Amino acid sequence: MRTGLGALVLFGLLQLVPYGWSHPNPPVTEAATWPDAESEALARAACYDCHSNETEWPAYSYVAPMSWLVRRDVEMGRDELNLSELDQDGAHELGDAAETIEEGSMPPRQYLLLHPNARLSVEEEQRLMAAFEQLDDDESGGRGSG
Ligand code: HEC
Repeated sequence: MRTGLGALVLFGLLQLVPYGWSHPNPPVTEAATWPDAESEALARAACYDCHSNETEWPAYSYVAPMSWLVRRDVEMGRDELNLSELDQDGAHELGDAAETIEEGSMPPRQYLLLHPNARLSVEEEQRLMAAFEQLDDDESGGRGSG
């Protein structure tokens, strides 16, 4: 009984930590231009929650301590690759995106547990990897010609 109450009080106190309260989706400054609707749908399902400004914040992202983990993933993810800010710093890891899919490091495993529709078949992976490569070509071409 006592431990139950203690845990409940502790859980309540965790909610007071401000980190994780805010769920920002800043404006999209330059959206990725996907070669086709299918690859865009795959990217949106598998990558956009952490690598864009169009994050769909799930209900559990409002409850500590999950809120801290989600906030951290989104912050770090956007820092590395932001498919909504390709005109800014968002594109610098674009060249590695296909590789992370190939190795299976992205999307992260713990994300797949909670988002089964981010699980890609081999064909879907191939399609998304090709789309990322094309996007990277377009972007570096764009950067080259100013
Ligand atoms: C649950 C959040 C989440 C999802 C979903 C996600 N990523 Fe990431 N991604 C991260 C985080 C956090 C980092 C930075 C830390 C790290 O590398 O683990 C990262 C880093 C990266 C990097 C930088 C290079 C590297 O390996 O660190 C690339 C490229 C990348 N992700 C591509 C993708 C692609 C492509 C998808 C979709 C197929 C995807 N990510 C889905 C969270 C996510």
